Amino acid sequence: MAIKKVGVVGGGLMGSGIAQTAAQAGYDVLMAEVNQELLDRGIGRVEGAWKMLSGKGRITDEQAGEYRGRFRGTLDLEEFSDHDLVIEAIIENQDEKRKLFAQLDKITPKKALLVSNTSSLPIIEMATATGRPAQVAGLHFFNPAPVMKLVEIVRTIETSDETVEQLRGFAEKLGKTPIVAKDTAGFVVNFLLIPYMLSAVRMYENGLATQEDIDTGMKLGCGYPMGPFQLLDYVGLDTTLYAAEAIYKEYPDPAYAPPTLLRRMVQAGRMGMKSGKGFFEYPEKR
Ligand code: CAA
Ligand code: NAD
Repeated sequence: MAIKKVGVVGGGLMGSGIAQTAAQAGYDVLMAEVNQELLDRGIGRVEGAWKMLSGKGRITDEQAGEYRGRFRGTLDLEEFSDHDLVIEAIIENQDEKRKLFAQLDKITPKKALLVSNTSSLPIIEMATATGRPAQVAGLHFFNPAPVMKLVEIVRTIETSDETVEQLRGFAEKLGKTPIVAKDTAGFVVNFLLIPYMLSAVRMYENGLATQEDIDTGMKLGCGYPMGPFQLLDYVGLDTTLYAAEAIYKEYPDPAYAPPTLLRRMVQAGRMGMKSGKGFFEYPEKR
């Protein structure tokens, strides 16, 4: 099956970046959200990126026009009835994801692939909410999706070889380098990255150094593009907390236990850059 029409569910940080990337690679892309305000915000993020890229001379006005012509939004999941691939990028909550996979299974063509961009949740639980587990996998992009080169293909014990190969071809057409990971919490990258960020929070919580000095340490000492606190704010403290909880559930080791400060910050609504406040402040995003 040739993938032509791509659906993205969720127009937040990741969904909008994935939709942008797929439209740029030549696919027809439809992005779904839960209400008009959030849909407009997601579309605005994609439009803003294309404006930024044409402003910098990275793309021509003609290219920007072509991308726009291939991309639109919807509030109606029924519109995915003729789609070949649907990428789920909604909030990190397994009950919500299972509900969505069951809906998509009823709506999309029987041969369509259904994939999740989850950071850490078991893909098999989404697969078993459908009648096509061989066509369900993880397709995990990294933030910012249009820029980061990696995609993890997460294969469950039910995912077919054909599905993995189709996803490999799709990721390569997006200009990404795919790696294949087993369906274990955190896959490859987050299994290493999440405990690193949690350790930084514990260091700060225990007064071992300031958040600024920890960030400077990792940037200048190790050449990381962002320090752990900048990265936590960038990824979203809610997403990090839910991913840490999912990894800890599978590996109950103290290294994966979410620190109290992270939990309290999420309870206080400090989600990071997207809410205007996390470990640092972003007045322009409020
Ligand atoms: N579309 C296309 N290109 C974009 C873009 C977009 N939406 N946004 C930025 N770019 C391009 C810019 O045009 C720029 O390109 P040029 O150099 O050609 O001008 C380039 O990307 C870099 O952008 P900026 O100059 O704005 O910013 P920067 O140099 O400070 O880099 C960054 C920003 C790429 C985010 C860098 O800081 C970085 O790599 N940070 C680490 C990010 C990271 O670790 N991500 C993984 C998070 S973990 C995760 O995602 C998994 C999970 O499940 C939680
Ligand atoms: P986000 O909060 O920015 O966006 C999630 C969006 O999904 C929201 O706009 C919400 O309205 C929408 N949504 C919720 N339920 C929906 C439904 N039933 N139908 C349509 N839209 C719905 O979150 P995000 O950071 O984009 O994360 C999305 C997914 O990607 C999560 O599973 C997360 O773990 C994963 N992920 C996040 C990152 C990151 O750095 N933030 C990186 C890789 C993967």
